[in-house]
Amino acid sequence: MKILITGGKGMLAKAVIERFAQEELIVTDVEELDITNLEKVEEFVENCSPDVIINCAAYTAVDKAEEDLALARKINRDGPKNLAIVAKKHHSILVHVSTDYVFGGDLSLEEIYQEEDAKAPVTVYGITKLEGEEAIKENAEQYYIFRTAWLYGDGNNFVRTMLKLGREKDRLTVVADQHGSPTYSVDLADIIAQALEKKIPYGIYHTTNLGFTTWYEFTKEIFRQAGISDENCEVVPVTSEEFIRPAKRPKNSMMSKDKILNAGVIIPEWKDGLRRYLEIEG
Ligand SMILES: NC(=O)c1ccc[n+]([C@@H]2O[C@H](COP(=O)([O-])OP(=O)(O)OC[C@H]3O[C@@H](n4cnc5c(N)ncnc54)[C@H](OP(=O)(O)O)[C@@H]3O)[C@@H](O)[C@H]2O)c1
Repeated sequence: MKILITGGKGMLAKAVIERFAQEELIVTDVEELDITNLEKVEEFVENCSPDVIINCAAYTAVDKAEEDLALARKINRDGPKNLAIVAKKHHSILVHVSTDYVFGGDLSLEEIYQEEDAKAPVTVYGITKLEGEEAIKENAEQYYIFRTAWLYGDGNNFVRTMLKLGREKDRLTVVADQHGSPTYSVDLADIIAQALEKKIPYGIYHTTNLGFTTWYEFTKEIFRQAGISDENCEVVPVTSEEFIRPAKRPKNSMMSKDKILNAGVIIPEWKDGLRRYLEIEG
């Protein structure tokens, strides 16, 4: 299988490159292939004729995006649109990654988001990622959109930050009223591989690790697994209102994985993903 990977220096891209190492890979970063440049995308895909394009490129700075709508839209909407147009023309399968931020995040905590639930993004990042999904639906035929959340892996991420702070400080406050699923980039890359190998039906899927938690409980589990005790660093729960950020964070980011599980894809629990990550990073 010949696979074109965009955004090749990003956190997910690194896991994708490793997972698909046996395949014929064409890995590109923004200098080699800027996905916002339709002409360049067309030229590139025509030259290499990939069976699959895995789009790991995105504008991911959630807070910065609030002041940067034009660039976020260019990368998160126009980029995927260009890839969709070209993938369709050259009969390539397009794999794209989206986010829980396409939802409003205000669903009752008794409920979890299904793929087709109403979208109501409240941040520039979420709005532009939703526009990217819609552009793919309109322009591509053979596509997968994998919505993920709370991603960590080889790059700056929440787990790395908490480990550093936990070893430096004796007290940390962490938000305890936002609910979601931490997702190891290696597990997401494997979900993508399984989807392609098993040829599951094209469409949109929720793809995080299994199980739900809060940032507070996630931090407690990171510390438990890494051997950082309460005496070393106390973790104190706080509310979202006590921790205001430029972009509003969803309180409910919990997404159902039934659709992808029913398609035969196997997904590990989030604590298991964390354990394997800490074996490398901890
Ligand atoms: N991280 C999370 O918690 C999270 C949660 C939900 C969904 N997601 C989604 O998961 C996917 C992967 O995220 P990630 O965390 O791996 O992101 P990342 O580490 O920020 O990587 C994104 C990559 O895209 C590159 N890029 C930016 N603009 C580009 C362009 N015009 N053309 C080509 N490449 C470009 C970036 O290069 P520069 O660094 O040089 O700009 C960077 O290497 C994204 O679609 C993201 O929206 C992430």
